[in-house]
Amino acid sequence: MHDLKRGGIAVIDFGSQYTQLIARRVRELGVYSEVYASDANPKQLIQHQPAGFILSGGPASVYEQNAPQLPAALAQSDKPVLGICYGMQLLAQASGGKVSPSASREYGPATITHRARSPLFDGLASELTVWMSHGDRLEAPPPGYHALAESDNSPCAAIGDMRRNRYGVQFHPEVRHSPQGAAILSNFLFRICACQKNWSAEAFIGDAVAKIRAQVKNERVLLALSGGVDSAVAGALIHRAIGERLTCVFVDHGLLRQDEAQQVARVFRHELGMNLIAVNAVESFLSALRGLTEPESKRKAIGKVFVDVFSQEARHLRDIRFLAQGTIYPDIIESAADSKSAKTIKSHHNVGGLPADLRFELVEPLRDCFKDEVRAIGAALGLPDAIVWRQPFPGPGLAIRCLGALTWERLEKLRAADAIFTSELDAAGLLRRGTAQSFAVLLPVKSVGVMGDKRSYEEVLVLRSVTTDDFMTADWARLPYDLLARVSARIVNEVAGINRVAYDITSKPPGTIEWE
Ligand code: XMP
Repeated sequence: MHDLKRGGIAVIDFGSQYTQLIARRVRELGVYSEVYASDANPKQLIQHQPAGFILSGGPASVYEQNAPQLPAALAQSDKPVLGICYGMQLLAQASGGKVSPSASREYGPATITHRARSPLFDGLASELTVWMSHGDRLEAPPPGYHALAESDNSPCAAIGDMRRNRYGVQFHPEVRHSPQGAAILSNFLFRICACQKNWSAEAFIGDAVAKIRAQVKNERVLLALSGGVDSAVAGALIHRAIGERLTCVFVDHGLLRQDEAQQVARVFRHELGMNLIAVNAVESFLSALRGLTEPESKRKAIGKVFVDVFSQEARHLRDIRFLAQGTIYPDIIESAADSKSAKTIKSHHNVGGLPADLRFELVEPLRDCFKDEVRAIGAALGLPDAIVWRQPFPGPGLAIRCLGALTWERLEKLRAADAIFTSELDAAGLLRRGTAQSFAVLLPVKSVGVMGDKRSYEEVLVLRSVTTDDFMTADWARLPYDLLARVSARIVNEVAGINRVAYDITSKPPGTIEWE
């Protein structure tokens, strides 16, 4: 079988907030790419025989002590290299170039002019708007390199050693604020690295189905279906590979969005014909959560009940050797990054921590995929839009959006308000595109209002809607005032017990996307 990952791009991470974006942009251009730590072992780096390397940016300065260095594998490789920002400075330094702090930092949009002919800028206008974010600069091209472009602030906004196929750009072609960035990356992939365009949802499905069959053989697989996109697509993919030997368990913990439980049963059992066991565990979850208000205690309680309920079901189902999970690539990249910095901001809950007597082998068919790829795969597998385009929903569900005492009545209030917000966003075309995550949060705070000449004293609901590319940083969505007005009026009129609606205008950082 042809290896889909062969001949792609290895992205080497020097700690930039945009590293994942680089890998995504490469894949959007139809070429497989994978992210490696800058100190990854050399064998690992070339395991898929990459056609080229991209070096990410990073927060360090190349002249600092202990600054991350170029991997040794690169010095020995004759494959093309593109260094971005810090990556460019590392390439330059390795060839004897001098990088020093710049008198004025360059952050934000800048215009570069490229004069020298080079495959990197082939077909592009000579003046380009790009996104800069750097404090250091390279004064002159190092031996072997030419300056390909300059900006007001950077005499070397792009450099190239055409003989050795090594290029560097001081700006960030991977961000949307560099409008021609994708064209520059495309030149690097196809003109310089001679990559083949072979990474697509269809190609991935064919490959994944074959791999699942090879791994699972005639055995059976168990999947915890959450209703979210990742586990839904993992389920549909495994079902395509092994049909009825897949059993899905769906735990209704009572913390789901409006109609979510019914929708999961309808789609997976009736439309897709999958084996689905739906467990109603609302009482167990609510009683474990009773009296808890501290966010991490809620998460821990939910994780524990989930494992208990799921284990109980798994014990009834004999002879199952494999457990499938909807782990996706950012989970892998982020947990690797986490292990270094070891800082937990929020403990994310998944099916980890199953008791020792339940020993499963894992099947994780989406562990190489980004969220947008997961959606494309789901659509290609025929999953309905309502599932494919569901916005991300945290494992602990509404428990971390219902602040204060968790009661069924308050959860119902939150669900109704959230459904109004979501349906208005959908009608305005802002659910699939335009916002990355939008939801309602119920506060344990009452305020005074006046409704129909009567004083009211009810709870406050907050609307949260963010735009983001990677969920690591986010901005609050600039929703139209008319839309906010309509949502607010409908919630106050239609949902008893809420008399005030607020809109959250905090970005991440310093806020997080969720409130708990
Ligand atoms: P924060 O709030 O950390 O959220 O900015 C970033 C993304 O992660 C989701 N999130 C979670 N997902 N279990 C999950 O599966 C969790 O405990 C959890 N907490 C936050 C959040 O919805 C957003 O998409």
